[in-house]
Amino acid sequence: MQEQITNIREEAVNNINAAINAKELEEVRVKYLGKKGELTAILRGMGALTPEERPIIGSKVNEVRDELEKMIKSREDEFAKIELDKKLNEEKIDITLPSTKVKRGSKHPLNRIIEEVEDLFVSMGYDVVTGPELETDEYCFERLNLPKGHPARDMQDSFYITSEYLLRTQTSAVQARTMMDNKEKTPIRVICPGKTYRRDDDATHSHQFSQVEGLVIDKGISLADLKGTLEVFVRKMLGENLELRFRPSYFPFTEPSYEVDVSCFKCGGKGCNLCKQTGWIEVLGSGMVHPNVLKMNGYDPDEYTGFAFGTGLDRLAMFKYGITDIRLLYQNDVRFLKQFDRLDR
Ligand code: DAH
Repeated sequence: MQEQITNIREEAVNNINAAINAKELEEVRVKYLGKKGELTAILRGMGALTPEERPIIGSKVNEVRDELEKMIKSREDEFAKIELDKKLNEEKIDITLPSTKVKRGSKHPLNRIIEEVEDLFVSMGYDVVTGPELETDEYCFERLNLPKGHPARDMQDSFYITSEYLLRTQTSAVQARTMMDNKEKTPIRVICPGKTYRRDDDATHSHQFSQVEGLVIDKGISLADLKGTLEVFVRKMLGENLELRFRPSYFPFTEPSYEVDVSCFKCGGKGCNLCKQTGWIEVLGSGMVHPNVLKMNGYDPDEYTGFAFGTGLDRLAMFKYGITDIRLLYQNDVRFLKQFDRLDR
């Protein structure tokens, strides 16, 4: 019996060493250690042995089984390692290969300007509000102190859809909407960026353009608040050391009204082609909200005052990035847009 065990052991060891892959190794394991394996058969047959033989044979079989299991395990590990190495080799990534270029989009210059303006005013406690681009005559004009037939309507050449509906010519329409929504609730501190439309088309005017409107209403708002706010706005957007000039003007929805000029950021005020030799560039319309506008939109002018301003975002973008034709902002020519890839500041 002992000799039989020794033979089985020897044969098994040879077979384990001869196995060339995990599958063959498994066959060897089953042949000797499986349920119907040769070594298992000896353990099963122990009942037929004499009580003296049993412990001797039993421990021998166990010893051989442990040894074989260890050997199989170690060969299994070897095969697993070979398999893994093979896989790693086959799936090797050549990190020296040049990668395929990922094309990145760039932010449109107008969106950059809008985001910058929004960030600035939000940091000063303003809300950003929007209104419809298809607007009613009522909100675009009438509630802004421009009744039908008012000569100032001629200042803006409008796209009427019907006699009551038009594409808004100014974001000032959102002023009236905001007041009507809030009705005596104060303070109102909003900016309204958005698209606007007029019947224009040349290098400095596009039929679709963008404006931002500002509106503040509260008790005790004065011209000083307007001046201070616009100074921060203009200097932040166009340059910290610029001078501002408030020139009396006329807008139907403000009284008094001002146009704001900024000292030419190209020539520093000496006179050049950008400022048409005047040293100044017009950047904003503004004023104190007209008492009629307050009254018409639900605010008692004896109790509340406010200021408003409006400016063309296209103009700001053109000044800031040296763009000479406004239409470039709307044609979406990639050659133009690509130039703004890395203008983050
Ligand atoms: N809406 C005016 C325009 O399109 C700009 C403007 C002027 C807006 C004065 C205002 C303002 O709010 O107070 O030309």
